[in-house]
Amino acid sequence: MRKVKITVVGAGNVGSVIANTIALRGYADICLIDVVGEMAKGKSLDISQECGILGSDSRVVGGDDYRLSEGSDIFVITAGIARKPGMKREDLIETNAKIVKEVTQNVLPYSPNAIAIVVTNPVDTMSYLVYKVSKMNKNNVIGMGGVLDTARFKYYIKQKVNCSFSSINALVLGGHGDEMVPIVSLSTVGGKHLREVLSEKEIQEIVDKTRNGGAEIVNLLKTSSAYYAPGMSVVKMIESIIFDKKEILPCSVLCEGEYGIDGIFFGLPVKLGINGVEEIVEIPISEYERELLKKSVESVRNSHKLLEDLRII
Ligand code: NAI
Ligand code: 2OP
Repeated sequence: MRKVKITVVGAGNVGSVIANTIALRGYADICLIDVVGEMAKGKSLDISQECGILGSDSRVVGGDDYRLSEGSDIFVITAGIARKPGMKREDLIETNAKIVKEVTQNVLPYSPNAIAIVVTNPVDTMSYLVYKVSKMNKNNVIGMGGVLDTARFKYYIKQKVNCSFSSINALVLGGHGDEMVPIVSLSTVGGKHLREVLSEKEIQEIVDKTRNGGAEIVNLLKTSSAYYAPGMSVVKMIESIIFDKKEILPCSVLCEGEYGIDGIFFGLPVKLGINGVEEIVEIPISEYERELLKKSVESVRNSHKLLEDLRII
């Protein structure tokens, strides 16, 4: 039996958290690729030596040569620029689309059967780009956004109700942007509906903070965006895939009529297992939330269209 191999392209903030966490858990070998090859190699050496302290036998390699990534089961794309204070995720599209296209073309020949997890923003559109450029099976291209947004939603609920994360059930759907939709109608705390434990005003505050969660951190960090929670969100998705857990997680996937949405990558509840996206799960969200999703769909669709306007696809 062979160890799982994960390649992370983009050895910056998010990529490093992913590589470090997986290496410490020891269940996979890691390849870190970056256009700044020596930085990726340096981080791979640092993580390898750290593994020795904890007794992990993950092999970690790094550099700018895609041959290092040969035979990966999963590749994660975090390469690109992150937003600075005042920027929207969509402002990154022109620069990041060129990078993500190049990365996809470089990584695919060495791992033609791998599953792709896309992180680079705007993530729904970058996932669509990877799908278009690679011509991969739609079940094998997955964007990370909803797991992070849901973590933020749960965090702000926890701040108000003062109970363990494990007693909170909540979910955020839609594009990973300002129009994301926290699903209040299905959120519970210890089995009680959110509306039984908090007022409408408190819930609206939580929804607004969730939508603004990424920008809040950008404004504090100033030179980068969030990376610990984003990195761990990717690890959660990777573990559901490689251990075939079949967790139902909000991920950006190609919609073909589900929830009345067609032809875009969009955040919906997805069963993630060894075959990647094994099912897009229909859950009974409210009519109001369906209406809100439509606004998010429009915004993501417009962002996808920019790829054609820019002649990237
Ligand atoms: P970072 O700047 O720390 O790292 C990006 C890395 O990409 C750098 O090391 C850079 O050298 C590398 N890179 C640039 N061009 C490359 C190329 N052509 N080939 C290989 N590597 C290349 O940025 P960070 O914080 O890691 O964020 C990365 C991306 O992920 C950003 O676009 C950010 O907006 C996005 N992001 C998305 C999240 C989500 O929820 N989907 C959450 C957090 C970040
Ligand atoms: C976030 O939400 C930057 O999209 C990233 O933190």
